[in-house]
Amino acid sequence: MATETKKTATKATTKKPAAVKKAPAKKAAAKKPAVKKVAPKKVAAKAAPKKASPVKKAAVKKAAAKAPSSKTVTFRIKRGEQVDGAFEARHEDFKIKYDDSTTVLQGLEMIKGEQDGSLTFRRSCRASICGSCGMFINNRSRLACKTKIKDMVGGVKENMNVPASGNIIEIEAQKNQPVLKDLVVDIQPFYKKVENITPFVQEGAETNADVDKTSFEQVNMVSNCIMCGACYSDCTAMVENPDFLGPAALAKAFRFVSDPREGQKTDRLKELSEKNGVWDCTRCGMCVDACPKGVAPMEAIIKLRTRSMNSGVTNNPGARHAMSFKKDIATWGVLNEPVMLLKTLRHNVIKQAGNALNLVRKGKIPNPLPFDHKVEGLNEVRDIFKELEKNPIDVETRAEDTGPGAG
Ligand code: SF4
Ligand code: SF4
Ligand code: FES
Repeated sequence: MATETKKTATKATTKKPAAVKKAPAKKAAAKKPAVKKVAPKKVAAKAAPKKASPVKKAAVKKAAAKAPSSKTVTFRIKRGEQVDGAFEARHEDFKIKYDDSTTVLQGLEMIKGEQDGSLTFRRSCRASICGSCGMFINNRSRLACKTKIKDMVGGVKENMNVPASGNIIEIEAQKNQPVLKDLVVDIQPFYKKVENITPFVQEGAETNADVDKTSFEQVNMVSNCIMCGACYSDCTAMVENPDFLGPAALAKAFRFVSDPREGQKTDRLKELSEKNGVWDCTRCGMCVDACPKGVAPMEAIIKLRTRSMNSGVTNNPGARHAMSFKKDIATWGVLNEPVMLLKTLRHNVIKQAGNALNLVRKGKIPNPLPFDHKVEGLNEVRDIFKELEKNPIDVETRAEDTGPGAG
């Protein structure tokens, strides 16, 4: 190829005198740049061999990949074990080298293989499939095999919620579960809750032979759950109430309520509307952020609430609270909190007497009489509700939905 280019260059140079002979001196001078134009061809001819050596390029790339990375990071790991029924914790720092592709799990394996073989953690697939490497990394539950070190040390990244922490990555076991050793939690309470929602299709009168696209997508989306426990670990309601069924179990329950083959949908909705069920969720959204598979458990919980109420399962504090809330806003444009508490808890409101007295003392209980709560633009608020009555929002299939069932 280089030889051909050289020949071309020589031809161009030999043509130059002919041009000078035919043209007057001035024109010949004007044609001089033509000779210059040929020159870049020569340069290109010199550069050509570089392009033509992909083998050399690959060798250089390989050598670069093999070169040890100069970047280092410190893993600050909360370790510990059970001693006489109590968990004794300590923090230990380990320094490791990493490159742009190193995951937190690979870092932990380096530590276990080269620095401290007693470091204990779970892992299996290394590919975000088995769910066993769930741990609390830089303030959020994540899969260690899906989390790259470079994303954790680089400060705040989109959707990563990483606090800038210099060159240190803080790692500890998942929350809301008893820790057995180092980064390993006891997963039995988590699985017990899944077992409690009867995780299989039951025979019954409500079986439907028709499978529509929406129900298929809803079942399919929740089926992506890999039982990693990240949502359970980050659930804020679980901190206050360890008996709460939790996001993963409720998402799974939604999967069965949505399954056309399920024969006992209403009974399921009744059970899920009881204490520790769908109404105990605070709708904080942490489970949606934490889930590495896009299951969006909170969206499933909201749909379960809606379906319960649409099925007439309303005789519970959660449903009464929602109905009272809606009625207050539609009527007065503002909440009447003392009355709403009474409607929600009924005779059980007496159990809140102590709290109520404290609030009265601090002047925090508003006047329950409606005429004291006039708000501006009330007619517009009422018009919105009238419009919603005529055109209700379909929470099952609304276009902007990103939760289970989103098409
Ligand atoms: S949205 Fe509900 S279920 Fe999800 S983390 Fe928050 S409280 Fe828990
Ligand atoms: S819903 Fe998501 S975060 Fe929760 S257990 Fe399943 S995969 Fe993990
Ligand atoms: S090792 Fe299987 S999900 Fe991380």
